[in-house]
Amino acid sequence: MKLEKICVLGLGYIGLPTASTFASHAIKVVGVDVNPHVVQSLQNGQLHIYEPGLRTMVLSAVQSGNLVIKSRPEAADAFIIAVPTPFKEEKKADLTYVESAAESIVPYLRKGNLVVLESTSPPLTTTQIIAPILEKSGLIAGVDFMLAYSPERVLPGQILRELIENARVIGGIDRASAEAGRELYKTFVRGDIILTDATTAEMVKLMENTYRDVNIAIANEFSRLADRFGVDVWEAIQIANLHPRVNILNPGPGVGGHCISVDPWFLVEAAPDITPLILNARQVNDNQPAFVTELVERALGRNLAGSRIAVLGLAYKPDVDDMRESPAVEIAHKLIDAGCLVQAFDPFVPGKEVQGIQTVASLQEAILGVDIIVLLVAHQEFKKLTPAAINQENKTAVILDTVNGWPAADFEAAGHRFFRLGVG
Ligand SMILES: NC(=O)c1ccc[n+]([C@@H]2O[C@H](COP(=O)([O-])OP(=O)(O)OC[C@H]3O[C@@H](n4cnc5c(N)ncnc54)[C@H](O)[C@@H]3O)[C@@H](O)[C@H]2O)c1
Repeated sequence: MKLEKICVLGLGYIGLPTASTFASHAIKVVGVDVNPHVVQSLQNGQLHIYEPGLRTMVLSAVQSGNLVIKSRPEAADAFIIAVPTPFKEEKKADLTYVESAAESIVPYLRKGNLVVLESTSPPLTTTQIIAPILEKSGLIAGVDFMLAYSPERVLPGQILRELIENARVIGGIDRASAEAGRELYKTFVRGDIILTDATTAEMVKLMENTYRDVNIAIANEFSRLADRFGVDVWEAIQIANLHPRVNILNPGPGVGGHCISVDPWFLVEAAPDITPLILNARQVNDNQPAFVTELVERALGRNLAGSRIAVLGLAYKPDVDDMRESPAVEIAHKLIDAGCLVQAFDPFVPGKEVQGIQTVASLQEAILGVDIIVLLVAHQEFKKLTPAAINQENKTAVILDTVNGWPAADFEAAGHRFFRLGVG
């Protein structure tokens, strides 16, 4: 199979690293995005997202001439779809981006092409949604062109390394499609490449994220139980995990991001009659921000209305700039709605507006004059904070740590009342 030129549709957290990694392995890549801001920024050498090492890689891929940025696809040997698959209000998968990306390939599809869907998708999307759209070209999937599903499993913050090192699952609509996928990805993948069918590959991705979600839900529920029974959940988890077959994850302020808080809904939607556990786990994690908001009120020891609160971190996890579905953002909104004066700061978006929350420009500004400091994201910058540094701006604030990021004893010794999620 000829693989000299590929077209990557969607230049976000997944598509841009994928496009530039292929380009840095001597493949001609057309990177396509429908968002004019994304196309213009990249054409001007600016990145619209942050991922360590990505800027250097994209700039050199563009300079080498192997990566060109366009607003629509063109003829190529292979097409990779890496567009968003969010959910709609009612927690149903929104496949409009995936569908329109597939539609946009139709005029350029040629005999012998390979199309790979990377976007996380409900079971049967590749065979029942993507194949029929591509067949509008008059070509037949599995006969004239090959079609595969290959989930992306990289960790934001580590994407460039994991793209290469992680095992990659490639599910073909037939064996030839899976093998063509292997030909394509072995350009740069050093981990195992596992071939399977398209629907199994779709399920694998959803099962991985659902497994994480359910396990975080139980940790979150344990944090509430510990809170009620006067136990330190962090210590209890550490002890329980000494058991050779137990590995409890960490509780926290909730579950966010584009994947774990979204993907389980695709299974619930696809088969609501047989997924009560998955649904309940989603609800437990979705309710955790409300539990944290209650904790803020308890730690303050008075009504939230009129309180001045430093919210440290808005991202959905440490050391990334991704605020999608972030529980920290939800907690900030809940506090604002309860009448608090919120001084939010996230080192990845200093001074910017995040989903209606105007953040302050610096940590010092965030903690100045507040009644309570709430640590919501264990960004390195926050974890390094010492009580002495906090005391320079604020000696009296109550501290609430929801991520086990700070040593209680040090803060208490410095004169702060200290609370931690899951410590009753
Ligand atoms: N971000 C992650 O960590 C991660 C990890 C694993 C899997 N995924 C999955 O990968 C997929 C992409 O996620 P992401 O985080 O890269 O999304 P993203 O929002 O960062 O980027 C998607 C890009 O696609 C563009 N786009 C939308 N419709 C398009 C179209 N028809 N043609 C071309 N471009 C189009 C958007 O403008 C956007 O720039 C999703 O299904 C997601 O669930 C993401």
